[in-house]
Amino acid sequence: MMLLLALFVVVPAFVLAAGMLPARIVTKPEPGFWFENIAVRPNGDLLITQFLPTAEIITVKNPYSDRAESETLLTLPLAHVLGIDRFSTGKNTDEQYLIVGDNEDKSCSAFTVSFDKGSSGKPSLSRVIDFDANTTFVNGVAAVSDRDNIVLVADSSGHVGRLDISAGTFDTFAFNFPEMKPNQDSPTPLILGVNGIHIRDGYLYFSNTNLASIYRVSITREGFPSGGARPEIITNVTTVGIQGVDDFNLDKFGNIYASTSADDKILYVKVPSGETTVVVQDGVAGNTAMAFGRKPGDTSTLYVVTTGVETEVPAAGGNKTQGAMVAAVDTSKLRSGLT
Ligand SMILES: *[C@@H]1O[C@H](CO)[C@@H](O)[C@H](O)[C@H]1NC(C)=O
Ligand SMILES: *[C@@H]1O[C@H](CO)[C@@H](O)[C@H](O)[C@H]1NC(C)=O
Ligand SMILES: *[C@@H]1O[C@H](CO)[C@@H](O)[C@H](O)[C@H]1NC(C)=O
Repeated sequence: MMLLLALFVVVPAFVLAAGMLPARIVTKPEPGFWFENIAVRPNGDLLITQFLPTAEIITVKNPYSDRAESETLLTLPLAHVLGIDRFSTGKNTDEQYLIVGDNEDKSCSAFTVSFDKGSSGKPSLSRVIDFDANTTFVNGVAAVSDRDNIVLVADSSGHVGRLDISAGTFDTFAFNFPEMKPNQDSPTPLILGVNGIHIRDGYLYFSNTNLASIYRVSITREGFPSGGARPEIITNVTTVGIQGVDDFNLDKFGNIYASTSADDKILYVKVPSGETTVVVQDGVAGNTAMAFGRKPGDTSTLYVVTTGVETEVPAAGGNKTQGAMVAAVDTSKLRSGLT
């Protein structure tokens, strides 16, 4: 543990590159790590899922300061961990997250990560379900805010399921639309359909990596598609020269920030018009997921995690090992200037 902690060197705040929005490094271990997803705790600390080299939950404390500190909270009994989202148990004293990942035999599982109220200590881990063979590529997760213990789970092989955490049951094909399927002919390095999922104002928003698009579909309060609802496309990011879109998030106005993974840009998408612009030009190669800060004064900061693995990043000169990082993008200028 001490050895691993020592790898997380705190890098002083500095601007990575002259994009439209400034980004700074919050923490960056030596090469060899892959950060996959992110949630922000009510106390402002970050929770990061580490995909490689081992499946771990990392926390970053004080990410808004130049004294950010990283620490492993849990090492998971998984080969890789992917999505994470906080869900409601109905008791407001609880702080619980659902995480999903895959096992050595390629099967997939879900766990809860639970913090004791007010505790700054390590959370406990509890297995919710080992998915059956119809679930092959778990990715993003999104809690249904109007119902306790209900979380949607994206399967990048082409559908979104509905997990009832208290019952331990999974409706594998709850959302099963053509817009969620991968495209086997995609130029992106991986065959990936639906990837990131987020619920806002009666819609399930989802990215499809191979289709290079973000969609939304009307959703009921119970967390099912509304009767007869069909996905509508919000943006096709090939219009700004991007070949694939990874996870994303919505700001408080309901507009989207999207990661581009194999590229090194971050996109901003107005909703519902779909007008799409590049707002971070480079410096965050392999960006894969993002979430806004929750500490007062930090809510315009978009925390971004990157895969950092060897990936072809044209703007970074081809196949370069970038090293995973957590970066912070200050979006306040965009709000005052461009919207
Ligand atoms: C997969 O889904 C199909 C269709 O719903 C079902 O018939 C089959 O039993 C499922 N397979 C497993 C392993 O649960
Ligand atoms: C996105 O735009 C490209 C280029 O016009 C087009 O080939 C592709 O079919 C579009 N994708 C979707 C999902 O609309
Ligand atoms: C990057 O690696 C891929 C696969 O190994 C290879 O096809 C491609 O030509 C490489 N690109 C560069 C710029 O080196």
